[in-house]
Amino acid sequence: MKAIYPGSFDPITLGHLDIIERGCRLFEQVIVAVLKNPHKTPLFSVQERLEQIRQSTQHLPNVEVDSFEGLTVNYAQMLQAQVLLRGLRALSDFEVELQMAHTNNTLSKEIETVFLATSNEYSFLSSSQVKEIARFGGCVDHLVPQHVAIELYRCHAKNHLN
Ligand code: PNS
Repeated sequence: MKAIYPGSFDPITLGHLDIIERGCRLFEQVIVAVLKNPHKTPLFSVQERLEQIRQSTQHLPNVEVDSFEGLTVNYAQMLQAQVLLRGLRALSDFEVELQMAHTNNTLSKEIETVFLATSNEYSFLSSSQVKEIARFGGCVDHLVPQHVAIELYRCHAKNHLN
């Protein structure tokens, strides 16, 4: 079975990576798909995020990294994927994720959403928090892959100089 792991990944965190690694053990192929979202102003461009994810998943042979526009189910159908993979962190995720899964199910009956419970150590981790910590000069080494942390520090230093 082929699974799509869709998201913003601005930037990828160790929580995302945990879901990708575990998804790789369950599915033949996991496609990490970055949404090109015209309604959000990301810190990193889609191209930068794709590169960050590629570098973070080099050790996983059954991972592909891609970007997409529009509806996730349409993209999944185009790739003939059967599963949308999502991570569930705290209870607060549940309502939003359940609504999204139900909505997607009304759009395509063939595609199932599969949730993986995020590992304990990452259950309160989000890309937004990571960006906020980095913006205020905090350490994010324990929250994101090393090369992403370096990029965040670089971004922060640049903004500090401007
Ligand atoms: O990392 P995120 O921001 O939580 O990911 C959300 C994402 C990209 C999975 C979701 O917003 C999405 O699938 N957007 C594409 C548009 C779509 O398919 N909407 C219908 C689902 S409600």
